Amino acid sequence: MKSILITGGAGFIGSEVVRQFVVNHPDYKIVNLDALTYAGNLENLKPVENAANYNFEKADITDAAAINAVFEKHGITDVIHLAAESHVDRSITDPLAFVHTNVIGTVTLLEAAKKYWKEDYNKHLFYHISTDEVYGTLGAEGFFTEETSYDPHSPYSASKASSDHFVRAYYDTYGIQVVVSNCSNNYGPYHFPEKLIPLSINNIINHKPLPVYGDGKYTRDWLYVIDHASAIDLIFHKGKVGDTYNIGGFNEWQNIDLVKLLCKQMDEKLGREAGDSEKLITFVKDRPGHDKRYAIDATKLNKELGWYPSVTFEEGLSATIDWYLSNTEWLNNVTSGNYAKYYEQQYNH
Ligand code: NAD
Ligand code: TYD
Repeated sequence: MKSILITGGAGFIGSEVVRQFVVNHPDYKIVNLDALTYAGNLENLKPVENAANYNFEKADITDAAAINAVFEKHGITDVIHLAAESHVDRSITDPLAFVHTNVIGTVTLLEAAKKYWKEDYNKHLFYHISTDEVYGTLGAEGFFTEETSYDPHSPYSASKASSDHFVRAYYDTYGIQVVVSNCSNNYGPYHFPEKLIPLSINNIINHKPLPVYGDGKYTRDWLYVIDHASAIDLIFHKGKVGDTYNIGGFNEWQNIDLVKLLCKQMDEKLGREAGDSEKLITFVKDRPGHDKRYAIDATKLNKELGWYPSVTFEEGLSATIDWYLSNTEWLNNVTSGNYAKYYEQQYNH
C-alpha cells in the first residue's frame, strides 16, 4: 500500500491536494505533515479530517529527527512536497526564513528519502512542487517552457530555484526517483489573504483600499487551485521520472484588469452600485525586483498527459468570491491576530 507524505498540506494548495487525494485514493494512506506556520490552517482539512486514510503530523521539515520519525512511523513510500514559505513580499523582508524552509527543509526531506528508500529507489517517488517564478521574467512576448533557463529575481524564487536544483541533484547523484512541476499563480478557496486575489476580495468586502503595485501593468498567468491539484495527481501517477512539467492555463491578466474584474463581479454579488469597488483601487509603491510578466507554456502536460484546466477564469473567480462570501468565519479567523501586524507593516509603512 502506498503511504504518501504530503508536506504543507495545511496550506492553500497543499490542503486542496490532500482533500483530493484522500477522497480519490481511499487505498492510499495520506500523511499530511505541516508545521502550521501563519499560512497553515487545520480548518482547511475539515472536509477530510475524519476519513480513515487521513493522518496529520505537526512537524517542521527542517527538523531531521521529526522527519525521520514520521518516515518510520508511517512507512512513507512517496513524497509530494509542497511545504514552503510562499509569499514574495515576506521574502523581501526576511530572506533567511525562505532559505531555511525552502532550501534546508527540502534537503532535509531528500535526506530522509535517501535513508529510508535505499533498498530500492525505483519503488519510490519524490515529487517536488515548484513555481514558474524560478524562470524569472518575460517581455511582452513568449512563454516559459521546461527548457527555459533559471533566472530567479526575488529571494522567494531564488530559494525555490535552489530547492529544484537540489531535487534534481539527488536524482543525478543518488538515483532517487524525482519529478518536478513548475506552476503559474494559483487562486481559489482557502487562499491566505496576503496574495493579490484573496487580499483584494477581503478588502472589497470591508471597503478598504485595494493596493496595486506600481502601474498595475504586471502580468500573471492564473490557474484555479483545483486544476493545479488535478495536474499534480496526474503527474504523480503518470509523469516521467526525472522530468519537469510546466503547469498553467494560458490565462494571462494584467493586475489592474484583474482587480477591476474582481470589483465588477463583487459589486454584482454584493448588490453594490456598478463602479463602487473600483473607487477603492489605490496605486502604491512598487515591489522591488518586481517581475514584469509570467506566462507558462503547458503544451508538454497537455500533449503527453492530456491535462487541461476544467474551468474558465471567470467561472473560477466567481466560485472563489462565493467561497469567501460564505466562509466569513474562516476569513475572520485568519485575518485576526498577526495578520493585522503584517498588513500594517506591508501597506501602511
Ligand atoms: P502556503 O503558504 O499557503 O502554504 C505553505 C504551507 O507550508 C503552510 O501550511 C505552512 O504551514 C507549511 N510550512 C511552511 N513552512 C514549513 C516548515 N518549515 N515545515 C513544515 N511545514 C511548513 O503556500 P501555497 O501557496 O499553498 O504553496 C504551496 C507550494 O506550491 C509551495 O511550495 C509553493 O512554492 C508552490 N507554488 C505556489 C503557487 C501559488 O500561486 N501559491 C504557485 C506555484 C507553486
Ligand atoms: P502575489 O499574489 O503576491 O503573487 P506573486 O508575487 O507570487 O506573483 O502577486 C501577484 C501580482 O500582484 C504581482 O504582480 C504583485 C501584485 N500585487 C499587487 O499589486 N498588490 C498587492 O497587494 C499584492 C499582494 C500583489
